[in-house]
Amino acid sequence: MSTSATCCGDRASNLVTIDMDEQKTAGVDAGVESEWRAAGLSPLWESAVSHKAVVDQAKVLHWRWRDLEPLISKAMTHVSPENVERRVLLFSDPYLSAPGRAMSSRTMNAGLQILMSGEVARPHRHTIDAIRFVLQGRGAQTIVNGQSCEMAPGDLVLTPGGCWHEHSHTGDEPIIWFDGLNGPLHRFLGTALFEPGPVSEQFAPACSSPYVEPALRPDVIDGGAEGCTIFRYPWQQVAAALDAAPQLLQGFRRVRYVDPATGHNPIPLMDLSAMQFDPRLRSTPHRTNANTICVVVEGAGETSCGENVFSWSAKDVFILPPNVWTTHRAEGAHARLFMLSDREIYRRLGVLQEAYGNQPGPLPQSNAI
Ligand SMILES: [Fe+2]
Repeated sequence: MSTSATCCGDRASNLVTIDMDEQKTAGVDAGVESEWRAAGLSPLWESAVSHKAVVDQAKVLHWRWRDLEPLISKAMTHVSPENVERRVLLFSDPYLSAPGRAMSSRTMNAGLQILMSGEVARPHRHTIDAIRFVLQGRGAQTIVNGQSCEMAPGDLVLTPGGCWHEHSHTGDEPIIWFDGLNGPLHRFLGTALFEPGPVSEQFAPACSSPYVEPALRPDVIDGGAEGCTIFRYPWQQVAAALDAAPQLLQGFRRVRYVDPATGHNPIPLMDLSAMQFDPRLRSTPHRTNANTICVVVEGAGETSCGENVFSWSAKDVFILPPNVWTTHRAEGAHARLFMLSDREIYRRLGVLQEAYGNQPGPLPQSNAI
C-alpha cells in the first residue's frame, strides 16, 4: 500500500493500546518467571490480549487507480514473470503484514497481476484457491486444467485449489487483473502446498459450455463429465444479470457467482458477487465480521464505513474492515462493484455475525445461508 495517498487509515495506529507494565504480575519472583519461560511456559496474565477488551478500530484500506497506475508501470519495466514466477503487487494491510508475509486480510490476499504482450506465466498449481478479475486489457488467456479461458475487462476466471493454471498474453496492450487468493487461510492451517510445472496430468478435451439456458441443468454433469466445469464468467453475462436483478430493500442489486451444477459457490470458501448501486439510493447500513474486498468495475460512488467516508471510481480497490457499519451509494449514474468475501468460512465455522440496519449492541448471529 502506498501510505502517501491511498490509505484511509493505519490500522495499527488505531488499536487500543495496553500498558504492558500494568500486565506484569507484582510480587511474582523474577526467578520463578525465568523458570517458567525456560520451560516454554508463558503466564497468561501477561498476555496483551487475553481477558482484555481489545478493540480493533480498523479503518478502510483504499487504493485509488490513479495512484496505482504509475506503480504498475514500474512493475512492467522492473520485473518479468521469467524471473519472479508471477508479476504481482499485493495489497498489504500494515497491521496484519510482516516482512516477507504481506497480507491483505486475515484469510485472503489480493493483488494486481500484470502480463505484457507476448509474455507467459508458466504453469503451476497450489492448494490455495484463486480468482482473477480483469481490470484492463484483453487478449490474454488463462489455461485451467487444460481449458483456455479468455480474459477481457470484467471477466472472472477461477483457478480453484489443485488446478493447474498458466497465463499467456497475445494481445497488443498490457493486461492487468485483480488476483484474490485465500493464501493466509491455508498458511494458518498449514495446508498451503505448491507444485511447479510442467503439468503432470492429461485432461479431457474441454467441452463448450453446456449451460446455455439459465433454468436448465444438463444431465452430463451428473455423469461427472470432465472438462465441463466453468472456470470463466464473462462480464457481459454478469452485467445482463445485474440489469435484470431486482432492486432489494437494502438499496442495491446483487448477483452471486455460482456453480450452475450446484447453485453454490464455485469455490466453496469464497463468496463472489457483483453489486449495483442505482442513482439516488444509499444502501442500508450493513456490518459483518467477515472480510470483504471490493473492486470498482463501473461508475463512481461513495462509501461510509464507520468514521471513514471516501469516494471511489473505476478500478479502485478497497478492503472493508470487519464489524463496522457500512453503506454505499453511487455518484451520478449507477455504479458496480465486484466483491470477494470469506463469509462462507465464518458461516461454516458457526461464527458468522452480520446484520442490516442500525441496531445497537452486539452483532446478532446470522441465520442466513
Ligand atoms: Fe497460481
